[in-house]
Parts: sequence; structure tokens; C-alpha cells
Amino acid sequence: MNVPFFDLKRQYNQLKGEALPLIEKVLENTAFSGGQFVAEFEENLAKYNHTKFAAAVNNGTNAIHLGLLALNIGPGDEVIVPANTFIASAWGVSYVGATPVFVDVDPNTWNIDVKAAENAITKNTKAIMGVHLYGQPCNIDDLLEICNRHKIAFLEDNAQAIGATYNGKIVGQFGAMSFTSFYPGKNLGSFGEAGAVFTNNEDYHKHIQILKNHGCSVRYHHEMIGYNMRMEGIQGAVLNLKLNYIDGWNNKRRSIVDQYKSLASSKLKFQSLEPKATAVHHLCVVTTEDKDAFLKYLDENGVGYAFHYPVPCHLQKAYAHLNYKIGDFPNSEYLASHCVSLPLFPEMTDAEIHHVCDILSKF
Ligand SMILES: Cc1ncc(COP(=O)(O)O)c(C=O)c1O
Repeated sequence: MNVPFFDLKRQYNQLKGEALPLIEKVLENTAFSGGQFVAEFEENLAKYNHTKFAAAVNNGTNAIHLGLLALNIGPGDEVIVPANTFIASAWGVSYVGATPVFVDVDPNTWNIDVKAAENAITKNTKAIMGVHLYGQPCNIDDLLEICNRHKIAFLEDNAQAIGATYNGKIVGQFGAMSFTSFYPGKNLGSFGEAGAVFTNNEDYHKHIQILKNHGCSVRYHHEMIGYNMRMEGIQGAVLNLKLNYIDGWNNKRRSIVDQYKSLASSKLKFQSLEPKATAVHHLCVVTTEDKDAFLKYLDENGVGYAFHYPVPCHLQKAYAHLNYKIGDFPNSEYLASHCVSLPLFPEMTDAEIHHVCDILSKF
């Protein structure tokens, strides 16, 4: 049997009966960019995330960019970012002319190492970007305490963890701002590109809404240098529909990972969960000392896989000018060279899940 790493087509087929009439409605209303469907989604999304505001934008990378602009972070400033994350956690910092300061991750949770983050704070530090990587919350309590003590902002890159909780509360509501992505492969994925910024601060929210709309709140009256980063109407309508399903999909992801974990060979190491957290498992990443043998074994048994992420941020060519070197962040480097992501999506069949469990148990 072959189990794909991921298959977007299945969710599309399940939803198209509901989604296509909605898309037609958007088109009939010519609500192509922004408009009522996006406004409705912003309202529902803020409710879901337990934040006062959600600003819908055209992707997660731009959500971070706009958020940092609204926080007035710019040249000469530093933002602390974990070295083991998708590179977009750092892009926004670079876009505003500030410097991403990478730090290592915890060897067990694979999320930002709290002590390393605190040690990296300088007089130029404006924020720590906690990333809830692979759908597992980082150590929010400690990071918040450090940020409050140093009077810097705690930010959450929640692109991979929408619906996860910490201390019983949904993540993405703890930081001064949080950011998410609705890239199609995300737990809540659009039919294209989309993202959002969450905050309880009305000034930040208003600023972002103006920035994303060419710098205007009144058409053709440009209050500031703006951007075109609005969400498309179709994405608002589709995401509104999908929001009804996200908790069920996240539960299914949890159940699949629980089954993998309970049966997998002890040669495979899974990401540890923060004690106060629940995960939504955007990805199920394992590490193993015998990576080559494991990949060959998965190939022979028809189990798909991928790598998240094969090069840590500090060793990316794009950041060569920051002069990091191999050995700077051993935990992130270990992960990059030993990680394997297993098949995980809510539409997996029982037979597929059992096959992966069987294969994991016999490694
Ligand atoms: C952790 C993280 N941050 C930011 C992003 C950027 O989102 P997008 O691809 O929508 O620009 C992503 C997703 O791609 C991500 O996984």
C-alpha cells in the first residue's frame, strides 16, 4: 500500500459541494478583493481566536511584515527568532530593516529555547517571536514573563498551530500580536494564499488595516506609505466555511499522531509537548539516528515523507551576511539533519493510518 505524505485533493473533494456555490456567490457579488466575505471572516476568526481583532491579509509572510511595521520595528532593532522554523518567521524582520537574531531550540520540544532567547536580549531587542512549531505551542508563560520583565513585545508566529491551546486558552491570543498563514497545506488552508494578524490592541489593528489597503482608510486619501496586501473575497468565503471544520480536523490529526506515538519503534523520537499545552499537529516530525535506513525503509513500504526543515535559518544562504556558522545552534542543526515528517492529514483513511503505524512499529 502507498500512503502519500499529503493529499490536498481529498479535502477539496469533500468540501466542493459547499465551497463552489459560495465561490459563485462571491463572484456574483463581484466581491473580489476584500469586501463582505472577508469582513465576515475577520469577525468569525477573531471570535475563534479569542482576540478582539483579526486583520485578514494576503499571506502569512505579509501578516508578519505588517505586524512589525505597526509595532514600529525598523532599522537598528532586533527581533529574536528560533533557528528551527520556516524562514518566513524571519522574513518580516528583514523586510522592515531590522535584524533577526537567531537562537537555538529546546532539544525536546524543538521550540525556541527560553534561556537562549533571554540571553540574546540586547538594548536593541524589540521583540521575541515565539513560533508554535509543527502545531505545538512554545513555552508561552516563560517567554511572556521574560518579555514583560525586559519590556519587549512577545509575538506569536501561529502559522502552524491554529486551534492549539496553552493553559486551556487558544494560542495566538497571548502575544502583543500573533500571525497566521492559510497557505493551502496549513491546518486551515485557503484555496490560494491568505493570512491574518491577531491583536487585542485597537491601534495596531487599525494601523494594519490601513497599511494593507494602500495606506488609506478613505479611498484615494493615503495617510501613510501603504501596501496592497488585502485578502481576496474567495479566500474569505472559503475560510469562513472551513472554520466550521477546523476543530474536527485538528482532533483527527491528534488522534493519528497519538496512534503513531503509541506504536512507533523506540528508535524514533517525537516532539515533546509543553506540559500546559495541547497540540494540533500541523506536522508529525520524528528524528532518528538511522535516518538513511529509515528513509529507505519508508520507500520500500510506500510511506511518503518530507523534511521540515532541512536547513536551519541561521545557515541559510540568504542570511550569510549575519555571519552565523555551523555549530552555533546544535539542537537546530541536529534537527535539520535528522528530521523526517510522516504522512499526516485529516482525510487519511483508517487503512493508511494502520499501515503507517505498522511500519513505524517494525522499524
Ligand atoms: C512558521 C511559519 N511562519 C510563517 C509562514 C508564512 O506563511 P505564508 O506561506 O502564508 O506566507 C509559514 C507558512 O508558510 C510558516 O509555517
